[in-house]
Amino acid sequence: MHHGSRILVLDFGSQYTMLIARRIRELGVYCEIWPCTAAADRIAAFGGHGVILSGGPSSVYDAGAPQLPGVLGLGVPILGICYGMQVLAHSLGGRVEPGTTREYGPAAIAQPAPPDRQVACPLLVDVDDGAVVWMSHGDHVAELPKEFVAVARSKDGLLAAVQHRAQPWFGLQFHPEVEHSACGRAILQRFVFDVCRCRADWSMDSFAETAIAAIRAQVGEGRVLCGLSGGVDSSVVAALLHRALGPRLQCVMVDNGLLRQGEVEQVKMIFAEGLGLPLLVVDARAQFLSALAGVADPERKRKEIGRLFIEVFEQAVAQLGVHFDFLAQGTLYPDVIESVSFAGPSATIKSHHNVGGLPDRMRMRLVEPLRELFKDEVRVLGRALGLPPSLVDRQPFPGPGLAVRILGDVTAERVALLQRADAIVRAEIDAWPGHVELWQYFAVLLPIQSVGVMGDQRTYEATCAVRAVTSIDGMTADWADLPKALLGRISSRIINEVRGINRVVYDISSKPPATIEWE
Ligand code: XMP
Repeated sequence: MHHGSRILVLDFGSQYTMLIARRIRELGVYCEIWPCTAAADRIAAFGGHGVILSGGPSSVYDAGAPQLPGVLGLGVPILGICYGMQVLAHSLGGRVEPGTTREYGPAAIAQPAPPDRQVACPLLVDVDDGAVVWMSHGDHVAELPKEFVAVARSKDGLLAAVQHRAQPWFGLQFHPEVEHSACGRAILQRFVFDVCRCRADWSMDSFAETAIAAIRAQVGEGRVLCGLSGGVDSSVVAALLHRALGPRLQCVMVDNGLLRQGEVEQVKMIFAEGLGLPLLVVDARAQFLSALAGVADPERKRKEIGRLFIEVFEQAVAQLGVHFDFLAQGTLYPDVIESVSFAGPSATIKSHHNVGGLPDRMRMRLVEPLRELFKDEVRVLGRALGLPPSLVDRQPFPGPGLAVRILGDVTAERVALLQRADAIVRAEIDAWPGHVELWQYFAVLLPIQSVGVMGDQRTYEATCAVRAVTSIDGMTADWADLPKALLGRISSRIINEVRGINRVVYDISSKPPATIEWE
């Protein structure tokens, strides 16, 4: 798809690369991330208004260290960040030195005072002397290539920002993309708009229009099948495809009995009744429960559910008796980047693929209309398409559903118990304003019974754990410091309202070493 103004980020393996792209897109400018090894002709063909070189863990002198890709001849502005600045300086004849100590954390920077200030750097217009930025580097540029000048230094005299005298080429030793660099947004804004002359023409409304045209062009007169899970991504895919194709989109939802309370009904109401979208809900609750009978091992649960999902889905589609040319998938931009990442795909700790193998088996071509979007853009798009907040702001939910939140055997009774406790946890936390800071909050049913007393009666019932975490991307997480009164309300409501649970505990483990889900 073609978008107006565009910036290319070349990735040298920094943990912050994705954040650079997020920041540029927040400014309303389309942006892609490519590995730093991309060929010069492809880089040129992208037609970016500017190029950003990311940071990275290498040292320019390491054997096999990534070198400067073919960007100097493009005739567009270049901004090197951290390693990106070092590789730019190194390849133009400057000297990079290993630092005696790593400079890590906040650092104040200052621009040279007027007699020494040789150029006014267009990136630093809004940056005050003493501005605090985030540093994270070992090496530094010790000697600049001769066409470059220093435009800011850190307190101990190290080069913090540099600029070419004649070309629009810049380097920043610090990370403008991280939140700790308070002036970072203004710097990127100056680069993108003043230096690269981009227009802010990337919005989810304009994206929807372009995407609908692209879907129509790809699908032609074909028919598309879409698995609807009730999650944000598949819901937005369905709503978008429905706009583009009307009745040539068929959605199938597999009710595996492991969804949250009221979820199936909500999806039916929004999509079938609200949008008038062809939706088949397959009631496979009994099948899933019988496949899970006696299965307590987490990985086996996941495998059984994955296998059965494909089986049930295929059968349901066969029964529809219609040929489908395409399968819709909610692939997002981070998945795309991951698969071509310079740093290599990250290690998988749990089998995370919800519908792995389905497209190959069903021999359908893929429609992936969200391939260019980050998660929060998907939510904005969902809102633009008229989906309700209850759906668009939904928390991440694992493909195997409540099965991985029921430790031990999964039975109909235990699923019902967890659904009720979980609904209370979510309702109570939703009503607390601080919930917007949380990544996820839910209940987990433990395979433990303990003694309690209710009225004059001794009870011997199940234990429920409450899990609430903050996180940026789900890769690491901290347990949330919920107010005591809130925890108290959750606990007393569960114990009073959910017959079969007499004890509630709060999970205070961070990830790592724990994971967010319990299985
Ligand atoms: P963990 O438990 O690995 O979870 O810390 C990290 C994030 O991933 C979600 N998760 C899944 N998402 N399919 C998914 O789509 C899965 O099988 C799955 N398992 C875990 C989890 O909810 C958390 O947000």
